[in-house]
Parts: sequence; structure tokens; C-alpha cells
Amino acid sequence: MSQPLIDKYGRTIEYVRMAITDRCNLRCYYCMPECGIDFVKRRELLSYEELERLMAIMAGMGVHKVRITGGEPLVRKGSPEFMERLKATEGVESMHLTTNATLTYPHIDRLAEMGLSSVNISLDTLDEARFLAITKREGLDQVLASIDAFLEKGIRVKLNMVVMYGVNDMDIASMLELARNKPIEVRLIEEMPFNGSSHDLKPHWNFRKLEESIAMNFPELQKDEMFPGATAYTFSDDSWKGNVGIIAAFSRTFCGTCNRLRITPTGQLKVCLYDNGVLDLRELLRDGSTDAEIEARIRAVVAAKPKDGFEAEKLAETSGEHRESMATIGG
Ligand code: GTP
Ligand code: 5AD
Ligand code: SF4
Repeated sequence: MSQPLIDKYGRTIEYVRMAITDRCNLRCYYCMPECGIDFVKRRELLSYEELERLMAIMAGMGVHKVRITGGEPLVRKGSPEFMERLKATEGVESMHLTTNATLTYPHIDRLAEMGLSSVNISLDTLDEARFLAITKREGLDQVLASIDAFLEKGIRVKLNMVVMYGVNDMDIASMLELARNKPIEVRLIEEMPFNGSSHDLKPHWNFRKLEESIAMNFPELQKDEMFPGATAYTFSDDSWKGNVGIIAAFSRTFCGTCNRLRITPTGQLKVCLYDNGVLDLRELLRDGSTDAEIEARIRAVVAAKPKDGFEAEKLAETSGEHRESMATIGG
């Protein structure tokens, strides 16, 4: 391995999130409008070969954790085979998947065999009518079946619930209850303004309200120590098999230990979720740049990684006006 990737605040970057498509079979309210977004053309996407080359370059710099995101990763043809090859890259220690789990069921054996470490599943309610209202599609049964099948295969499961006041805040207790009898982490997430449309955030429940809601419903749950690099801070109790968490994604309380990079479906490198893309990797991959040249460009933008999501947002001059969809960023 060459020198590790370290930014000017001394944070070691060892985790990359690859969004392999902006397409999705669902239309979650907080992510994209029902009509969809202006999806990118196939040739504009990084090819699997290009992503594999980037992974090898990054792994050489100590990036040992990779998360596959989208859009919905499983709508892209060949994604399980791609993940298999990616996992075999020298230096990749763990691979993770963020998915809506409506299409995963038939692939679970294969995902387990390739050594997928964990899966983060977007699920905002257990109520069928509200599932339909939030995602605009059917699919709750497939998600629930997938959760159990992942657990049976020994793959760790976290559930991502984006909490929207008046839309699904009434489902918090029933969602958290899932962690009592199953070894899963249920995370309550602040809504961010990456929804691909002009809908404004509701006076949303920030992390303080989410904490109050946990304390009110489950007073036995106690706050755990937070791991550096984690997005969620968690609560647990010995009598529970799983645990619950809060992700202050909009309040951005965890930037101080951020250890991650993002590659968007079109090959923009983001050093923060809130930047606009700071390096066009696709251009470098297609203009004959060598691995060493690409490595040097990545080191330069990582060194300049903003202190936190607020600084990144300011530099991106978006002043809070995010109309991009989470599906084009990768979450
Ligand atoms: P692990 O920590 O590896 O389990 O994953 P994660 O929680 O980072 O990833 P996941 O894809 O499950 O994302 C959960 C939520 O956290 C989503 O709403 C993401 O958009 C949000 N999130 C992930 N990374 C960041 C980040 O760097 N900054 C902010 N503000 N939010 C993030
Ligand atoms: N705000 C917060 N989280 C979001 N996600 C998608 N859109 C938003 C948003 N606007 C979450 C999904 C998915 C993860 C990658 O990002 O729940 O699990
Ligand atoms: Fe699809 Fe995920 Fe966006 Fe929902 S949040 S529409 S599951 S990409």
C-alpha cells in the first residue's frame, strides 16, 4: 500500500461509496418525484470496468471499505457479478450494500457467498398503505422477506427510516420495535433536501425530537458510545436483540470523524455529501490518464476536504437549495 489518504484535518479516508446507477424501481417521496428524474444515459455512467479500476487505485491508498448504493443498485444489469469482482479486489476488506430490498431476495445466497458484510435497507414504515404512499409502489412483503433471509445468512442488517413529520412519524415506535426481537439496527434519519423536486422539508423532526421519541417509547434504551466515522449514534439495552440509532444527516453532527468519499453514477468524486463533485473521474478514466496521475488528483482533492457539510455546502454555493435527487448522489 502507498501512503494512506489523509485530509488537512488529519482524517484518514478509508471508505468509498459507489453509486452505480441513478435509476430506481421506487419513487420515495424524500428522494425523487413520482415522474422520476432526468436519468442519465448508459454511456454517461461509469462502466463496471472503470469502477473496478478506481477501486484498485483507491484500495492501494488504504480505502478498504466499499458500499454499493444507487438509485437502487439491483436495477443495474450485472450488479451482483460486479460486486463479486469488486469484493475480490486486493485491499478491499469489507463490502456493504444500501438497497430498498424489493429486488434482493433472489440474490441473497449469492451475496452471502461473495462475502457481503452488511446491508442497509431503506424502509420507512411497516404499514402497507403508507409504504405505497411513500414509495408509490408495492413491495413491502418482498422487503420483509429479504430482511429475514439476510439475517438467516448471517449478513448484518440495518434499516434506514427517513422520518417525515406528518407522513411516517407515527410509525417510529413500530419500526423501532423490530429491533427488540431481531438482531438489527433501526436508524431514524433526519430528512435532507435532496429530493429532486421543489418540495420543501416539512418542519422535520431533528435529532433532538428523534431522541425524545426514543426516550418516550422505550425508556430502557441507553445511549452507547459513538464510533468514529459512524453516521449513527445508537441506543441499546441488554434485553433487546438489536439496537436503534439516529442519523443527524441534516444537522451534520458527525462530520468531525468523516472517513468517506463518494463516486456518483457519472463518475464525479465527492469528498462530502454536500459538495457538488470536486473531481471528474470519468474524464480522467477516459483521457488516458495513468493510475498514478489519477491517484495524485484524488490525493489533492482529499487534502482539501472541507471541515464539515456546512463548509462544503457554502463552497458549493448552493445555500441550502438542493434540488438534486439522492439517487444521483448515492446517499
Ligand atoms: P454505515 O455507517 O457504513 O453503516 O453506513 P451509512 O449509515 O453511512 O450509510 P447509508 O447508505 O445506510 O446511509 C444512511 C443515511 O446516512 C442516509 O440518509 C445517508 O444519506 C446518510 N449519510 C451517509 N453518509 C453521510 C454523510 O457523509 N453525511 C451526511 N450528512 N449524511 C450521510
Ligand atoms: N434525506 C435523508 N435520507 C435520504 N435517503 C434518501 N433520500 C434521503 C433524504 N432526502 C436515504 C435512504 C437510503 C439512503 C441511502 O439515503 O433512506 O437508505
Ligand atoms: Fe429508490 Fe432509494 Fe431513492 Fe427510495 S431512496 S426512490 S429506494 S433510490
